[in-house]
Amino acid sequence: MSNKINSQSTTETSIIQATKIAVAYGDGIGPEIMKATLRILDAAGAMIEPEFIELGEQVYLNGNTAGIDHNAWESIKRNKIIFKAPITTPQGKGYKSLNVTLRKSLGLFSNVRPVSALDPFISTGHPKMDVVIVRENEEDLYAGIEHQQTQDVVQCLKLITRPGSEKIVRYAFEYARAYGRKKVTCMVKDNIMKLTDGLFHQVFKDIAKEYPEIKSESQIIDIGAARLAARPENYDVVVTSNLYGDIISDIVAEIAGSVGLAGSANIGKEMAMFEAIHGSAPDIAGQNIANPSGLINASVMMLAHIGQPKIADKVKNAWLATIEDGIHTADIYKEGWSRKKVSTDEFAEAVISRLGMEPKSLKVSQLRTGSGNIKINEYQRPQTEKTLVGIDVFIDWQGSDPQEIGNALAKHNAGDLKLKMITNRGVKVYPEGLKETYCTDHWRCRYVSVETDTKISPPDYKTISTDRLLLLLAKLNQEGFDVIKTENLYEFDGKRGFSLGQGE
Ligand code: NAI
Ligand code: MG
Repeated sequence: MSNKINSQSTTETSIIQATKIAVAYGDGIGPEIMKATLRILDAAGAMIEPEFIELGEQVYLNGNTAGIDHNAWESIKRNKIIFKAPITTPQGKGYKSLNVTLRKSLGLFSNVRPVSALDPFISTGHPKMDVVIVRENEEDLYAGIEHQQTQDVVQCLKLITRPGSEKIVRYAFEYARAYGRKKVTCMVKDNIMKLTDGLFHQVFKDIAKEYPEIKSESQIIDIGAARLAARPENYDVVVTSNLYGDIISDIVAEIAGSVGLAGSANIGKEMAMFEAIHGSAPDIAGQNIANPSGLINASVMMLAHIGQPKIADKVKNAWLATIEDGIHTADIYKEGWSRKKVSTDEFAEAVISRLGMEPKSLKVSQLRTGSGNIKINEYQRPQTEKTLVGIDVFIDWQGSDPQEIGNALAKHNAGDLKLKMITNRGVKVYPEGLKETYCTDHWRCRYVSVETDTKISPPDYKTISTDRLLLLLAKLNQEGFDVIKTENLYEFDGKRGFSLGQGE
């Protein structure tokens, strides 16, 4: 295929300059589904000029631990639009996910994943489902900040920010408005993570008020995910944080028929990246049997984004007509349901031969705008008063009796800073723990001022200075305690900015 697709086309798009995009073939089934998709785009008259970039497994194996080289970054920065096939990331070891690196470094804060049933042409138990998962794409546990702290304990930092939450929640409502969607559901776990998920939820409740014409509701993620799997037709737009969004978008794609069907748009202020939601499927790589539909649907979102909605519709409608004619790849093929089982290439051929056609009974695609045409206001940081009221000192201690470490520490109160409690994995074990509580070698020791100030809640926290924290740490060090990390305890505008221990 030529590098330049249809820049001289005489169709309705002839006045449009071909848009340059960075294209990555990816790993596993990536090259097969990318070639198939590019052939369709070429035949459809897409006004794009691909610039092929190297990233993923081969780049890692050649010794570049980032998985992406300088030229690829340059191309991405120049072109601002990336179209990529899935890439392989090792589990439990090895290099970091390049997908996450790309999404975060390029500020692609919103991951939009629409999934709808194609009943009765693709077998699904949920013929009426038509949902869009709007997944936060830059933070949460995917910040990827992990540490082993003691022999027993490893930690992953969950970061939820106000600007991040505001951006994604606002995006979800703006998306609903632009696409005529009626309801936005927020999914969180703020009964447990009161600060992190609590912030996301509070931001959702505040922003929902600005969109009175759109219904809003909140669900706790466990029951939310269960209901989404059981009755997806009750959902419209779902907005959630990174990890939950990753999980529920695979769930909805799979119950619609196959994880191989859904495409996704990663949208930022300046840049955008389009990809399938699934991975590199190494189990079926090189066999020409993978479903290219996820990437085809991603390309439809990309065409709409770069201002070619009519070509996007042309591709989408030909794809719908193919599915409707029962031409199915192995993952969605069903005996007595589908008409013909086809390879990746044959599927692409079938779509190409239907370009210009519309589906007969499925809803005809009529895109007006791309998900990137949604503008989000700049974040304004509110002024708050921050007060230091204590410190959690984490100690690596090999003993097992909380009373022993508690009594030893209690002897070393520094000035008026005193040990308030000790928790192990979040549960209070000193003073007055239960002997049944299992203890690891990771002890969180909370120090606060002995003086009380009833203006601050809970009443036994009082403003202290950083000097006193440092004195305490020096003292603990002198006494031979193995301090592995600390967390300052703050209040913001008089509101507690830390969680209580379970049982505190
Ligand atoms: P996966 O999505 O690659 O595969 C899960 C299952 O679905 C497999 O049985 C696979 O054969 C099937 N499948 C996936 N896409 C298909 C398609 N288009 N047609 C037919 N069947 C399809 O997930 P898995 O196995 O957990 O991950 C494999 C690799 O992909 C890992 O290295 C993972 O890190 C990476 N990955 C990359 C992503 C990306 O580049 N955006 C996203 C998700 C995973
Ligand atoms: Mg995923």
